[in-house]
Amino acid sequence: MSGPRRPLVAGNWKMNKTGVEAREYVARLRALLGDGELSCDVAVCPPATALEATARAASGSAVRVLAQAVHEAEKGAHTGEVSAGMIVGAGADGTLVGHSERRAAGETDDQVAARVRAALDAGLQVVVCVGESLEQREAGETERWLTGQVGAALAQVRADEVGVLSIAYEPIWAIGTGRTATPEIAQEACAHVRSVAAATLDPAALRVLYGGSVTPDNAAGLMAQPDIDGALVGGASLDAEAFAAIARAA
Ligand code: PGA
Repeated sequence: MSGPRRPLVAGNWKMNKTGVEAREYVARLRALLGDGELSCDVAVCPPATALEATARAASGSAVRVLAQAVHEAEKGAHTGEVSAGMIVGAGADGTLVGHSERRAAGETDDQVAARVRAALDAGLQVVVCVGESLEQREAGETERWLTGQVGAALAQVRADEVGVLSIAYEPIWAIGTGRTATPEIAQEACAHVRSVAAATLDPAALRVLYGGSVTPDNAAGLMAQPDIDGALVGGASLDAEAFAAIARAA
């Protein structure tokens, strides 16, 4: 099934890098990736304070810039939050929604659905994240959990939006732990995510990424799986060399 889908490799910097550090990083990444035709899409996800500097530094290159989170409201009394319009105004191309670290801090399935909708309405690309905990996996509840999360995340998505929305399968037990899912486990879960999403989106066109302790060493094996169309990279994306190596593995 990997034929028509161009892979996406996205680096989630989390709460790391100032605007100055982001500019240096993007300059280095651009040099590493070169001007030649890449075989995948590449994006970085800086913190909100560095979005504009990152977008400026990436301007005119193949590097896309995504926010890490978005609020569903257009504006108002939401201290600390950022709207889709603000992300557009910063010059970014899209946003993550529903990262497990946000869900752990209280983001609900309903908010994820509303935030996906708000981002798409603003013309942003979306990478929506799903994934089970270790307890859920050990209890045999992974598929049921992913079915619920994917269904909720896509509740307000239209079929014609398949080109601007990707789903990242990120098992919580693999995030930041060094305990990467095996290619087989990741493939099985990504195939399930795709099959559930097929109720809304053309499964042959939908990009499903894997995330969770992706490194230059394990990236190629993961992305060689038929249902894995790229990677959402946390820790290893903080270093431009390591991140470029992962992009080259796609
Ligand atoms: P990690 O993070 O690569 O550091 O495990 C992945 C993520 O949270 O997106």
